[in-house]
Amino acid sequence: MDEPIGKLEAHNKVPRGFLVLLFGLIALGVYYIAAYTPGISGWSQYKVLSKEMEAEKAKAAAGAAKMTENPYERDEKAVAEGQVLYAAKCAECHGKDLKGADGPSLVGHLKFGEIDGKKYESISEGRPGGMPGFGAELGRDRIWKVLAYVDSVREYGKKP
Ligand code: HEC
Repeated sequence: MDEPIGKLEAHNKVPRGFLVLLFGLIALGVYYIAAYTPGISGWSQYKVLSKEMEAEKAKAAAGAAKMTENPYERDEKAVAEGQVLYAAKCAECHGKDLKGADGPSLVGHLKFGEIDGKKYESISEGRPGGMPGFGAELGRDRIWKVLAYVDSVREYGKKP
């Protein structure tokens, strides 16, 4: 026990686990700095942000494809086409003036919903009380057109 303190320390080797941890952390630090330095790795917050925005845009586009808003609303040409369709397919039950016959009036309150998505559903899938579904017969595009006509009468009283 009379050895100088420095020599005493020399007997105690640094544990291997500690060295591994130490150099591991140093390596990690170097990697981290390199990875997030724009000049070295090209990483930048702007790139991350624009990628996120890209993803959001794609999501929004997918949502638009589902479409719950009538793309033909107030489109004169589509309304005219819808009017022809209405006369051929709907007038017998809902009346030439849309005020109802065997089927209910389409100019007043609609019990199955008055937002575009619900009205579309009524026409496309039908309703239990005698409304046939027109999804297969007319297809998405013509359903929106006939609805554009119906809404034109509902909203600004276009003459049937
Ligand atoms: C065979 C007769 C018949 C035909 C043809 C018909 N409908 Fe109907 N429709 C009905 C009946 C009956 C109801 C009510 C259903 C119920 O109450 O369950 C109805 C309900 C509706 C509703 C929902 C009304 C509400 O109160 O929510 C809409 C919208 C509608 N029809 C639009 C149309 C359109 C547009 C066409 C032409 C493409 C059409 N219908 C063709 C009989 C018909």
